Amino acid sequence: MDVQQKKTKVLVTDEDMAQRLILRTNLESDGYDVHEAENGFDALEKLSDDPGIRLLLTDLAMPEMDGYDLIRSVRENELRYTYIIVLTSIEDRNSLLKALSLGADDYLTKPVFPDELKLRLRGGTRLLKLESQEALIFSMAKLSEYRSEETGFHLERVSHYTRLIARDISKHHPELGLSLSMADEIARVSPLHDLGKVAIPDKILHKPGKLTQEEWEVMKTHTTIGGKMIKEIYDKSGSLYLWLAYEIAMHHHERWNGRGYPFGLQGKNIPISARIMALADVYDAVCSKRCYKDSFPHEEAKALLLGERGEHFDPNIVDAFLRQEDACLAVKERFQK
Ligand SMILES: [Fe+2]
Ligand SMILES: [Fe+2]
Repeated sequence: MDVQQKKTKVLVTDEDMAQRLILRTNLESDGYDVHEAENGFDALEKLSDDPGIRLLLTDLAMPEMDGYDLIRSVRENELRYTYIIVLTSIEDRNSLLKALSLGADDYLTKPVFPDELKLRLRGGTRLLKLESQEALIFSMAKLSEYRSEETGFHLERVSHYTRLIARDISKHHPELGLSLSMADEIARVSPLHDLGKVAIPDKILHKPGKLTQEEWEVMKTHTTIGGKMIKEIYDKSGSLYLWLAYEIAMHHHERWNGRGYPFGLQGKNIPISARIMALADVYDAVCSKRCYKDSFPHEEAKALLLGERGEHFDPNIVDAFLRQEDACLAVKERFQK
């Protein structure tokens, strides 16, 4: 790869050629790979031709397609996030608000000062970097899924179950302090629960029969391995969703009665995210066919969860599952395999 390809790309969209030239000169001296567009259509075309362009600078008033329509169209069709900075004159507060509400991330007032431009773009690059880290983490989850004995839509189903249960808890138990947005975050990170399985040897992970005591001890380390992996990334970024992912990976095999692993935590000492995850994971595992067992029908799986109310599972979470039973069943039916 040559150096040109490694440079961060910016698309400058402005009708005024002189304006584009000023921006180009500033940005190039700062090491950016600058592309230009004259209007919204032109910009859209360049964005779709080159997936490497993730930073977009755009004026608002332009012929053919203006900045507003450009922002709207980018947001409607984007497969990856584009960081949009609007160029605006300071007097025009209303158009700025409109651009921001359509999905622009930031703005620069004209005339553009090079030092300010540099700082605004740095904010954008930081956000895009975080986003690509997130994408990387989720592809690791997919990788662990390929290797594990769980096939088909396990991760999708579990993510739906955790969302249903977490939202229910958020609604019925405000005293537990689980907000709706946290409930959604839990569902989003739930696919990471078995991330640590990437480090478990195949002969243990894929063993058709019962594991020996020694093998079982190795298998159990998927919790601490996954937990530590995610915690390391959390320590660098401090994002809430990574903290929840850490709790889930580390504690999803803890049991309410303290007989789980890796720490034997009991009751409310187990993070609520992990208590929700535990039930969703077991429900799905029981309902699914594995190489060593047949699948259980829903009624039997439900009876098992009820039998474990206050033992394996937090009673509040079993009750939430019961309130969401129909919705869970619909998910089970929708994602069969
Ligand atoms: Fe697990
Ligand atoms: Fe699982």
